[in-house]
Amino acid sequence: MAILSVKNLSISFPIDKQYYQAVDRISFSLSEGKILGIVGESGCGKSLTALSIIKLLPPKALLTADQICFNGTDILAADEHGMRELRGNDISMIFQEPMTSLNPLIKVGKQIAETVTLHQKTNNAAKEALEIMKQVGLNNVEDIYNQYPHQLSGGMRQRIMIAMAMVLKPRLLIADEPTTALDVTIQAQILDLMKQLNRKFGTAIIFISHDLGVIRQMCDEVIVMYMGNIIEVAGTEELLFNPQHPYTIGLLAAIPNPSRKKKSLFTIAGRVPGITERPAGCSFATRCGFVTEPCLRSKPPLVYQQSHGVSCFNYQDIKREIKDV
Ligand SMILES: Nc1ncnc2c1ncn2[C@@H]1O[C@H](COP(=O)(O)OP(=O)(O)OP(=O)(O)O)[C@@H](O)[C@H]1O
Ligand SMILES: [Mg+2]
Repeated sequence: MAILSVKNLSISFPIDKQYYQAVDRISFSLSEGKILGIVGESGCGKSLTALSIIKLLPPKALLTADQICFNGTDILAADEHGMRELRGNDISMIFQEPMTSLNPLIKVGKQIAETVTLHQKTNNAAKEALEIMKQVGLNNVEDIYNQYPHQLSGGMRQRIMIAMAMVLKPRLLIADEPTTALDVTIQAQILDLMKQLNRKFGTAIIFISHDLGVIRQMCDEVIVMYMGNIIEVAGTEELLFNPQHPYTIGLLAAIPNPSRKKKSLFTIAGRVPGITERPAGCSFATRCGFVTEPCLRSKPPLVYQQSHGVSCFNYQDIKREIKDV
């Protein structure tokens, strides 16, 4: 059963009196209790996609979609009151920018405890706050409880935010680059905690990351985005070991691998075009080493074989070509 279903979601921004698409008609779903990864280079629309699910897009963003449905609730039709109920209670988000969701004027422990009392009837909010603070790897939690956000390091603030997102054990946790700013041991601890949350309480997770290693460790399924499009989607092992799209192949080849002797064919040259420079056909055409005429004319549909989807006219030829090298 899908806990989240998104159909033809687009997000655009007005630039010089014209709207330009940053996310371009993407569809995906997340099954109950599963972890879905979203990868792609900076600017490909990962955060916007995540923010649209909780309706916290930047003010000028224009959202259109045929459906955003969470656990039977029509998100598109929900008003701000309804969304406030959902956020925290059922859907939590760990934001890429930790300061944006912490109140600078309230002690951090109190902020976590208030999240608890706002959504649950309990006399134990402070105790629950201290407990989750320990679980995200903070020491001396009694002291930290009484500090203000600016008194903490960036990594500690990030962990406070993670604690706040996890304390209510939401049905869906959206984690946008949750551990990028943290050092490796803390990162491992936090990832482990998210896995536990997922296993123990069945929390479904959308996990956004640049790091394919972390994605492999965490996710059941992965979406690869490029310029606001989903260009490939598959189960994690399938995607990593049987990638079809030249962009995914390039991303994987870009991971340093000391055992690989040959220089990769697939270093992705060039840069991602801006949203005002979107090509008419395939969004990856300007950087693809296998581009053909049809790629310049129309956008390839996301074609599925079983649960592996790829948006490329030439993926079968490309696979053959790679095998022959
Ligand atoms: N407030 C805004 N105004 C105008 N354009 C925006 C705004 N926010 C995002 N965009 C456009 O949308 C694109 C996608 O943004 P998004 O933040 O979703 O990227 P991302 O994949 O999360 O990148 P990163 O990995 O750097 O976090 C950006 O490249 C930018 O062109
Ligand atoms: Mg982002």
